[in-house]
Amino acid sequence: MNLDLQGKKALVTGGTRGVGRGIVLALARAGVDTVTCYQQQSPYVTSLENELKETGGNHLVVQADLTQPDQIETLLQRTAAHHDGHLDLVVNNAGAISHIPYQKLDLTEFQRVLTTNLTAAHLVIQHSLPLLGAGSSVISIGSKAVDAGIPLRSHYTATKAALVGLSRSLAKEFGAQGIRFNVIALGVVETENLHGMPADQQKTMIERYSAKTALGRLGTPDEVAGAILWLASDLSRYVTGSTVSVDGGIS
Ligand SMILES: NC(=O)c1ccc[n+]([C@@H]2O[C@H](COP(=O)([O-])OP(=O)(O)OC[C@H]3O[C@@H](n4cnc5c(N)ncnc54)[C@H](OP(=O)(O)O)[C@@H]3O)[C@@H](O)[C@H]2O)c1
Repeated sequence: MNLDLQGKKALVTGGTRGVGRGIVLALARAGVDTVTCYQQQSPYVTSLENELKETGGNHLVVQADLTQPDQIETLLQRTAAHHDGHLDLVVNNAGAISHIPYQKLDLTEFQRVLTTNLTAAHLVIQHSLPLLGAGSSVISIGSKAVDAGIPLRSHYTATKAALVGLSRSLAKEFGAQGIRFNVIALGVVETENLHGMPADQQKTMIERYSAKTALGRLGTPDEVAGAILWLASDLSRYVTGSTVSVDGGIS
């Protein structure tokens, strides 16, 4: 199916690894010129740049720590310069998580996760607005854990729940301008983080979370990217303020 995305301009945060990498590569293959960022230099940066070169198109991979507001401003300036002052799609993907008993959750860690998952998304959207026109789409990556609740991740789920409120309100505030805002709520997606675990731990994780899904398996970054392509395209033009679950039917 032709989604008619050729030549569109996107910004995806945190695209060097995991879900974000799958999104960036799927967009590039669909003909979308994409800017993405990462926090720390790693072999993933070079390998992504190489893969993007092979897809063709005009892409940019830049270092920007999204916990630093001035670096978000610079990221958006570089995005504007790269995309000639225009954006069709913003994906707030970069995120932080930790597993901490609530009574031991100190303020520094609470604020680190809040800053990365919520404040950064807010600032990215605010700085993107002058570049977004009618027909553009803003997607934030949320989590199915918001509905279920999950022990040791109260700070994380709080930030993901907040993204839903942010997105729904912005959908109303900017709907008349033709800008759509949606959240994609993920179940458990296999990424390098999971593959990097010791084999027995990895097996336990895969079995435990696969059993909670209707499809009996974990998701892949490419399957998340499928929903992103749809929300980026005109096929979803009447979808805004929504939370779309991409979770294999997890409960
Ligand atoms: N994987 C899952 O099962 C799952 C489930 C539910 C929701 N999610 C959500 O999906 C999104 C992606 O998750 P993931 O598992 O793919 O994460 P990941 O594998 O840890 O990758 C995170 C990406 O974000 C970048 N990043 C993190 N903090 C950053 C910062 N402060 N500034 C700039 N870039 C930053 C990382 O760059 P570096 O390489 O430089 O660190 C990396 O490219 C997150 O929002 C997460 O909460 C994931």
